[in-house]
Amino acid sequence: MFKVIDKIEKPYDENLTLVFQGKVEICPWLSEDNRKLIEKVMEKEEFNGEKNKKVKISFMEHGNLVTLTYVGCGKKEEFSKDDLREVLFKSLNGLKGTVLISSNEKELRDKEIYGEIVYNVNYSFDRYMESKSNKIDVDLFIENLENKDESLEKSLGEMVNFARNLVDEPANVINPETLALRAENLGKECGFEVEIFDEYRVAELGMEAFLAVARASKIRPRMIVMRYMGDKENKNIVGLVGKGLTYDTGGLCLKTADGMLEMKTDMGGAATVIGTMGALAKNKVKKNVVAVVAACENAIGSNAYRPGDIIKTMNGKTIEIINTDAEGRVTLADALTYIIREEKVTEVIDIATLTGGVMVALGTLNTGLFSNNDEMADKFLQASKNVGEKYWRLPLNKEYGELIKSNVADIKNSAGRWASSITASKFLEEFVEGKPWIHLDIAGTAYLNSDGKWLKKGATGVGVRTIFNYVINK
Ligand code: BES
Ligand code: MN
Ligand code: ZN
Repeated sequence: MFKVIDKIEKPYDENLTLVFQGKVEICPWLSEDNRKLIEKVMEKEEFNGEKNKKVKISFMEHGNLVTLTYVGCGKKEEFSKDDLREVLFKSLNGLKGTVLISSNEKELRDKEIYGEIVYNVNYSFDRYMESKSNKIDVDLFIENLENKDESLEKSLGEMVNFARNLVDEPANVINPETLALRAENLGKECGFEVEIFDEYRVAELGMEAFLAVARASKIRPRMIVMRYMGDKENKNIVGLVGKGLTYDTGGLCLKTADGMLEMKTDMGGAATVIGTMGALAKNKVKKNVVAVVAACENAIGSNAYRPGDIIKTMNGKTIEIINTDAEGRVTLADALTYIIREEKVTEVIDIATLTGGVMVALGTLNTGLFSNNDEMADKFLQASKNVGEKYWRLPLNKEYGELIKSNVADIKNSAGRWASSITASKFLEEFVEGKPWIHLDIAGTAYLNSDGKWLKKGATGVGVRTIFNYVINK
């Protein structure tokens, strides 16, 4: 799928050369006549290397048909890593066969970005369709590149796409049981430990809140615990918690048909933490990470949990259920308590398709980030910049906490529409026991309804790259 090569040794179906705006340098190893031909075509097409402009030229060289495409990257001074992502995605999407990409420009040497985009272009969710989309094999040739090992790009690309596939699969395929099996198989393949708890073990732990949400579904819940200890001497353990609602009908506070349609994606956080564990283990990262997913389905039925119910959590605090559709935080409360008390993590990151409110605030571009710890938040934001994912920190003033006070229980699970992604975070904060903590609300970023600049529509796998980078740089 993606290789870094140090010699061009075979013919390719497509040859892409990335160039900046200005005088375009033409491959010196071509015959004089062909170089003249290329020059003339560029002149005729008025190609100057402007961003996203292309010129494609075919000719005979030593008896072979050669097709060259020059891809404009725009002005060198204005060029960003995101521009490289965009230009690569646009020029690779739709191609077939084998592709060579080459560039001599020193600003265009980020092989991680080439790897990332090749895996994006090749991702498709077409298992259930007769017509399948094309896959390309890309070789990258950059002269004098020091590190030609592409195993990091490969494993990250594969694990992001693994997470995307879990999200794109419908809820009749991915349920708590099959999600747990997928995690188990990935653990065997990549080298991390997976323990699956059935509802009886979950009940023994006192996770009544998680079980309340899971109660109405015929498909029974599972808690998935994944452990990767790459540095056994070290006491520090990063905890990851992923929201794992394999379907969210809203429960008795039933969603509308439109609102329900996308709710197979409500295990996006779970998919991200599973994929991240795979990436960490595959790369034999020397850090300790434990991930937990409380997987269940928020269904309707005669034994469903109800608005008005008061539920006890594993942590001991009680929750008044205002809205059964604010179910994610109820399951996460127990998952957070479990990972802190039983797995003894020293910090925790939870990732969840938690609120419609975060989409109102940030749309589909930025993931909402909430934290009780500035140093941890800053490190995470730096990691996100390293890999090109976008996060925006939102506030957690204590005043917002007053909005989730209840008259009959310790807290309530919904405070209405205003600042709803913040009040949801204040709810989660009640269960982190003062540990350094980040909450990521990916309701807007886990799944796209239309193509992004370098992501196809559908699941995005958001979070895998940033959490991986955060962990390795700890
Ligand atoms: N899973 C949803 C949030 C969501 C909405 C994710 C849209 C992806 C796309 C969550 O469980 C939910 O229903 N949140 C409600 C809570 C409200 C009823 C208090 C919301 O934010 O609207
Ligand atoms: Mn819901
Ligand atoms: Zn939900």
